[in-house]
Amino acid sequence: MKKRKLGTIEVSEIGMGCMGFSHGYGQIPDETYSIEAIRDGYDYGCTFFDTAEAYGPNLLPENRGHNERLLGTALKDVRENVVLATKLHLSVEEVKKEGIYSAMQRHLAASIKRLQTDYVDLYYLHRVNPEIPVEIVAEAMGKLISDKMIRGWGLSQVPVETIDKAHTITPLAAVQNIYSMVERGMENDVEPYLLQHNIGLVPFSPIASGFLSGKVTTQTDFSNSDDVRKFVPQLRQENIKANQPILDLLGKYAEEKQATKAQISLAWMLHKYPNVVPIPGSKNKERILENLGACNVELTNTEFDALETALDQLKVYGHRGYNEQEGSKMSDWNRK
Ligand SMILES: NC(=O)c1ccc[n+]([C@@H]2O[C@H](COP(=O)([O-])OP(=O)(O)OC[C@H]3O[C@@H](n4cnc5c(N)ncnc54)[C@H](OP(=O)(O)O)[C@@H]3O)[C@@H](O)[C@H]2O)c1
Repeated sequence: MKKRKLGTIEVSEIGMGCMGFSHGYGQIPDETYSIEAIRDGYDYGCTFFDTAEAYGPNLLPENRGHNERLLGTALKDVRENVVLATKLHLSVEEVKKEGIYSAMQRHLAASIKRLQTDYVDLYYLHRVNPEIPVEIVAEAMGKLISDKMIRGWGLSQVPVETIDKAHTITPLAAVQNIYSMVERGMENDVEPYLLQHNIGLVPFSPIASGFLSGKVTTQTDFSNSDDVRKFVPQLRQENIKANQPILDLLGKYAEEKQATKAQISLAWMLHKYPNVVPIPGSKNKERILENLGACNVELTNTEFDALETALDQLKVYGHRGYNEQEGSKMSDWNRK
């Protein structure tokens, strides 16, 4: 697969979002299946894997690290060939008690152990906690880089003002924000800043939690206790129906390009910006390969322009919602 750069870190142009093996999209697969699925992604050519300390069933504190452990087991013998990205949450209490650097070092050491490695390539602050200035996190991340515990750092779900404050102190490798054909807020100010400052954009939920694949319908069951889709306004029945013209547009391109709708939605963002590296999430082996296969779907400039123009004319109903917009602390996550 072609490569792209997140700051100075080279990754396959499509990564794997691994959250669903542990949390967020209903019943999780058994561990053997998940480990094989991760490995299949690697064998296909994926070298970029996204996880977080928080990803465990129902985000319960006792399940923390479940997802990192799966990745560690799946990739330990190819560690040097892959880029591992993980994330931490920080509480005011631990920062007051231990000091910012020690608290972060402790979180990182636990992730490193679960990932069966001795460094993390890309370490994100999962959510900026308004009570912990991002500048002091940036400074501590800089020290983790000089101590060779991480290669680069990133922020997640942040506005441009926060990115600027942080980047001025310790240059960011990547920002992981929500971005897809139906969630394009990043295009206004965040993405121009990232392009200008050589920072990667790692879109999460690039297939809009499955919506853009066309496989999520008003009949899809989100009732599992650990399924974030029941909180996503965009996936309410009325919005699924109202956003149908977007799927029709994707369907037209999918037919023309002999691709799937999910692949067209990924090819669109890859064509649009050179610093974008999407991390579609699936816990299903076939869909993982389908999503990674978007690297073979190239839109011509003419096709892209026509798609973009058509997209600009379609209103988007609903947004991704509470979880990704507001949660700043673990306690917020646990409230879901
Ligand atoms: N930084 C953050 O705050 C944050 C927040 C959310 C996610 N993330 C990261 O971003 C990654 C991607 O986000 P996401 O999982 O929400 O992405 P997504 O790919 O937009 O949505 C995942 C959902 O879409 C379905 N899906 C994916 N590809 C499909 C396909 N080709 N056909 C049909 N259905 C498909 C999956 O179902 P199946 O599993 O059944 O295939 C799953 O239900 C996560 O894995 C996680 O690593 C980060």
